[in-house]
Amino acid sequence: MENRIYNFSAGPAVLPEPSLKEAQENLMALPGVGMSVMEISHRSKTFDEIHATAKSNFRKLLGAGDDYEILFLQGGASLQFYMLPLNLMTPKKADYIVTGSWSKKAVKEAKRVGEVNVAATTEEGVFNRVPKQDELTLDPEAAFVHFTSNNTIYGTQFTAEPETGDVPLLCDASSDIFHKPIDVNKYGAIYAGAQKNIGPSGVCAVVVRKDLLERVPENLPSMLDLKLMAEKDSLYNTPNVWGIYIISLTTKWLLENGGLSEMEKRNNEKAGILYDAIDGSGGYYKGHAEKESRSVMNVTWNLANADLEKKFVAEAAESGFSGLKGHRSVGGVRASVYNAFPKKGVEELASFMKEFQRKNG
Ligand SMILES: Cc1ncc(COP(=O)(O)O)c(C=O)c1O
Repeated sequence: MENRIYNFSAGPAVLPEPSLKEAQENLMALPGVGMSVMEISHRSKTFDEIHATAKSNFRKLLGAGDDYEILFLQGGASLQFYMLPLNLMTPKKADYIVTGSWSKKAVKEAKRVGEVNVAATTEEGVFNRVPKQDELTLDPEAAFVHFTSNNTIYGTQFTAEPETGDVPLLCDASSDIFHKPIDVNKYGAIYAGAQKNIGPSGVCAVVVRKDLLERVPENLPSMLDLKLMAEKDSLYNTPNVWGIYIISLTTKWLLENGGLSEMEKRNNEKAGILYDAIDGSGGYYKGHAEKESRSVMNVTWNLANADLEKKFVAEAAESGFSGLKGHRSVGGVRASVYNAFPKKGVEELASFMKEFQRKNG
C-alpha cells in the first residue's frame, strides 16, 4: 500500500497487510452481522466463532493438543510476570534464566511469590548473548524454569529451549512467538503480549499445560486466578474482543502463508540480509549480539559514536524507515523484523546502510 512506510518498531509492530485490510473492510459491519466487531457482545455466537478460530489457529500453529489451554488475557506479558508464579510456583521456589531487562522484570515479580534462583545471567556482557546449557545452575526441585526466548531490547535469542528435565519450562515468547515451529510439549507454559508478532496491544496469549493448573492455590483474586480464567475460557469478564479478532486474522494469515516453517525460512533470510550488511561493513557497523545468540526478530547494532547513530536513525526516517532507534538502555540501532515485515524493506535498509557508510565512512 502506497502510504505505508517500513515499520521497524519493536512493538507495537508491523502486522500482515491482508489482516489489516480484512479488519478495515469489516470495521463498520461484520458480514452477515451488521455490527462492528467492537460493538458485538463477547457472549454472542459471532464472537464465539471468532474466539474459537483464534484458539484453533493457535493450536494448529503450535501443534498443541487438548492437554493445553489457550487463553487470551489482559494486563500484557507484564501481568504474567506475576500471575504465572502466583499460580504455578509450588513449591515456592523457581529458576530464572536472566537474559535482559524483561527477564529481570519477571524475576522482580516472581520474588513477590517465592524464592528465585538466578540459574544464569548474561548481564556482565550487557546481555549480548544467551547462556549455554552447561552454564545453567538448575534446581531439580524448582517449581519451574523461566526463560525469555527472545530478548527484544538486546537482539539475542535462544536457538533451542533450555533442557530442564522434569521441571516445567515457562517461556516469555512475547517477541518471537510463531517465528518458527517449536515442540510445544517441551513447555509448561508459553505467554506472549500480542503487540509484536500476533496482534494489537491489550491482549496476552497464555498457553498452559492443563495439569499445571492443579497447582493453583485456592481463593486467589479472581482476575489473577489462572484456573478460573481457564474454566471460564478467558471470558470471566469482558475480554479484548478486538484483540482476539485481530489474532484470529493474523493466525489465519500465518496458516495461509505456509505456517511456521515458511516463517522460519523467511525470518532467517530477512535477518541474514541485515547481519550480512553488518558483517560486511568492515567494522563500520558493530552487531551487539554475539553471533551464536543473534536474534532473527530484533537486529541490533552500533556505529562509532552516538552522534553518528543519531544521524543514521534520522536519515533513515527521512528515507521511510521508521522505528530504528535502539532501546535507550543499549543505544545504537535496532531493526525489528517480525513475521509480517516484508523482505523488500530489509533489502532496502541494507542498501541504505551501504550508502550511509559510503557517505559517512
Ligand atoms: C520479551 C518481552 N517480554 C515482555 C514484554 C512486556 O509486554 P507487555 O507490554 O505486554 O506487558 C515485552 C514488551 O516489549 C517484551 O519484549
